[in-house]
Parts: sequence; structure tokens; C-alpha cells
Amino acid sequence: MTSTHNIHFKFLPMSVRVLFTMVLLTFGTAYMMAMIQVWESHAGKDGDPMISGKDLMIAYSGNPEGTKLETALRGPMADMLPAEKKKVVFDWLHAGAKAEEIETVIKPIMDEHCIACHSPEANPHLPNLTTVEGIQGVAAQDKGMTIPTLVRVSHIHLFSITFIFFITGFIFTHAYVRPVWLKCVLIAAPFAVLISDVASWYLTKVWTGFAWIVIVSGAIMGMSFGAMWLISMWQLWFGKPPAEVVDLEGRLPKMR
Ligand code: HEC
Repeated sequence: MTSTHNIHFKFLPMSVRVLFTMVLLTFGTAYMMAMIQVWESHAGKDGDPMISGKDLMIAYSGNPEGTKLETALRGPMADMLPAEKKKVVFDWLHAGAKAEEIETVIKPIMDEHCIACHSPEANPHLPNLTTVEGIQGVAAQDKGMTIPTLVRVSHIHLFSITFIFFITGFIFTHAYVRPVWLKCVLIAAPFAVLISDVASWYLTKVWTGFAWIVIVSGAIMGMSFGAMWLISMWQLWFGKPPAEVVDLEGRLPKMR
């Protein structure tokens, strides 16, 4: 008999079902780690600890009211400096970040609290705060992620997410879901929103409202992943194959 339907999980050999399960468990853990990472690197940029559209706008398009230094000291670097010294830095920034005050007012603070990490010896990838030029670099208007950074992040993102959703979607093709269009939507949606997500990173530089498309895309991606994951896991081990599947297959599943 030629079959026009995909083989349901319950008709697959035990070894394949174990492989699918282990891949899903690993991807599920990885997805949670990725969510924590997104939170850690974006939440709080606008001063409010919850993640928000504003945080993403600042990350991608920069903050016209702010500088990298202020954004960092209100966000990820907030714990690095006591409040009274933060005030000194903010007052200096708001008064126009005068170069002649760096040596006397700002550099001593950086030397005491920041250069353990922000020096070329400690970490060449972080802004160097041991020099006046380095300090001026983070005190200039915040323009968000640069285009070269975005290009680097987007190609990694496009390749790796395609892998994850090819594998997850392929596993999910063995599930029984009706109507078929719904199954196809769940498989296709992550790829569609992946494109709108990455495109919006760039477009946020033109109009900050695109940050909401980044958020909506991320939410749709997460929901598709969650749905495919749960349905696959359930049908792999717990759910009974529906009568229609058994009829199509013309035999009973081997429950090995
Ligand atoms: C324990 C190590 C450590 C200390 C101390 C530290 N930082 Fe950082 N800083 C980091 C790391 C790691 C990053 C990058 C990751 C991130 O943004 O959370 C960073 C990022 C930054 C950025 C953003 C850079 C960018 O390109 O957007 C600024 C600005 C900054 N720090 C300023 C400071 C200032 C000012 C101090 C001192 C008050 C300080 N940091 C103390 C580790 C440190």
C-alpha cells in the first residue's frame, strides 16, 4: 500500500522515538536558557526592571535621551556603583559630559569600580574605561547596535533557528493534527516570524515602533515551539493514536 500520510509516532521504531524525545528534551531546555538570556541582556535598559518594548528600542536603535554609559548604569551595570557616585556620573553626563572633568571627576570613579573588568587586559571585548577616550566613547549619544553587529547576530540567528525549527518541525510532522492547515501553520509560522523578527531589528533604527514586531515575532515563535513540543511529546508516549490513523496504517501500532 502506498501511503499518502505521514507515519504517526506510534508506528515508528522505539529507537527513533527515543531519539526524537531526547532531542525535544534538549531543545526544550535550550529554549528556556535562550529566554533567560534574552531577559538578562535586554530587561532594565529603560530603568524599569521588567522587559518592555522600550528596552528593545534602546537595544536596537539606541536611546536619543541617553548614552551607553547611562543606559548601562541604569540597566546591567546598576549594581556596580553606589547611588551617590551614579548621581555624580549622571550629573556630569547631563551637563554635557565635559572633557576637562573626566580626569578629575569621572576617571577616579571608573578606576575604583569599573576597570577590574573594563580594561584591555581584563576583557578586550568590553569598552575600555581606563582611558579618557574610552570613557568619551561610552559617554557619546547611544545609537544602539551597530549595523556590523546586527549583521553578525542576524546571520548566526537565521542559521541556528532554521536548524532548531527544521528538526522540531520534522519531528512534529509525525504527529496527528487536524485540520492539516493548522499543522502546516504551526510548522511554517516560526520561519515566517524569524524573517520579520530579524528585519525588524534593522527597521527599529528607522522607526522604533518595529520593536513591537520583534516582541510579537518572538511570542509567536515561542508559542509554535511550545505547541509542537507538547503535541509531539504527548503523542510520542501518552496519547493513543486516533482510530483514523490506525485505519490508514491498516495495522495496529507496535507498542514496543
Ligand atoms: C564584574 C565585571 C564588570 C564590572 C566591575 C563593570 N562592568 Fe560594565 N560590563 C561588564 C560586562 C560583562 C558587560 C557586557 C555585558 C552586558 O552588557 O551586560 C558590560 C557592559 C558595560 C557597558 C555597555 C557596553 C556596550 O557596548 O553597550 C557599559 C557602558 C559599562 N559596562 C560600564 C561600566 C561602568 C561605568 C562600570 C563601573 C561603574 C562597570 N561597567 C563595571 C562587566 C563589568
